[in-house]
Amino acid sequence: MKLKIALLGGDGIGPEVLEQAVKCLKAVEETFNHQFTFIKAPVGAVAISNSGDPLPQETLKLCKEADATLFGAIGALEYDNNPEAKVRPEQGLLKLRKELGLFANIRPVKVFKVLSENSILPKKVIRGTDLVIYRELTGGIYFGKKSLSEDGTAASDLCEYTEAEISRLAHMAFKAAKKRKRKLTLVDKANVLETSRLWRKVVTEISISYPDVKFECMFVDNAVVQMMMKPKQFDVILTDNMFGDILSDQGSVIIGSVGLLPSASIGKDNAIFAPFHGSYPKAKGKNIANPVAAILSAAMLLQHFELNEEADAVVKAVKKSFKKNVITKDILGSSKYGTDYVGDFIADNISYSDEDLNLNDENIDLGKSTII
Ligand code: IPM
Ligand code: MN
Repeated sequence: MKLKIALLGGDGIGPEVLEQAVKCLKAVEETFNHQFTFIKAPVGAVAISNSGDPLPQETLKLCKEADATLFGAIGALEYDNNPEAKVRPEQGLLKLRKELGLFANIRPVKVFKVLSENSILPKKVIRGTDLVIYRELTGGIYFGKKSLSEDGTAASDLCEYTEAEISRLAHMAFKAAKKRKRKLTLVDKANVLETSRLWRKVVTEISISYPDVKFECMFVDNAVVQMMMKPKQFDVILTDNMFGDILSDQGSVIIGSVGLLPSASIGKDNAIFAPFHGSYPKAKGKNIANPVAAILSAAMLLQHFELNEEADAVVKAVKKSFKKNVITKDILGSSKYGTDYVGDFIADNISYSDEDLNLNDENIDLGKSTII
């Protein structure tokens, strides 16, 4: 398959983790005989300092033309600490989501058996957790009218949803549930919010067309507790933009590190694949960031194009890195392996599924990708 992939490294550790994902895609390209073209473009704080714009026109154009975009991370301390800043790196990502119409943000939270010691939650609570969050991504409070009074003492953010926005994502989530454990939980705050009551009405109506999927509703304040106490009860979680943002980060507590979680943002004609994690500016350039979230995001990209065997090969190589303890310090404090070493190891271990995975320890000490 021929794929043109836009690479938006962004800020902080974004570019370095993305580089590891590209190594893996190049390994897939070579092993499975595909043709991938990669084109880099600036976004976020980096783009603001180059051009004053967190999403330059050329970057947007590239993402629209490309088959898919791999995204690193966004955000910088100088903006986080300055609420007065008029132009912010995050605006680049939000505009990109809106312009590309990426209404569905899919965030799987699946516990890897070998890493189940890693979570601060007890092993028996988290083992076997396999849930996926379907977060609405182009509406709600993120995109409603914002205002600040002239004297700066009052502010508002409007939260709006339409039936059409809710139903297109709900259908996608129910279809996913049908192929998984056949359960869908709508997370909302329908006891207080009008938008949540609309979500409940629309999704409840849609649920009738999916009789084989068990449908339930849960208030968001209860959902955050349930996710920590009994994460295994969930299969597909469907929710709005803001609640999805919060719940998905909570998923990282179950997994043990935010550095392990990938995501896909899908629209009608475009898609972006990106780790959940932020730009982690303190780690930038230190070769300590975990590249696994970015690499698993590349695997989601492959799945999106139905390159399932290829995606499985990437996941298998990631699992091998866990088994062999070729992992970064966020997972194993005593680890001596850095970002690029882990990336090389995973890329080097991408092979056809029928090939015996190279369990030869020599490869660990080799630590260099033969692909790049
Ligand atoms: C995420 C991030 C973004 C969001 C920020 C960077 C705008 O936290 O993708 O979860 O809130 O959507
Ligand atoms: Mn977030």
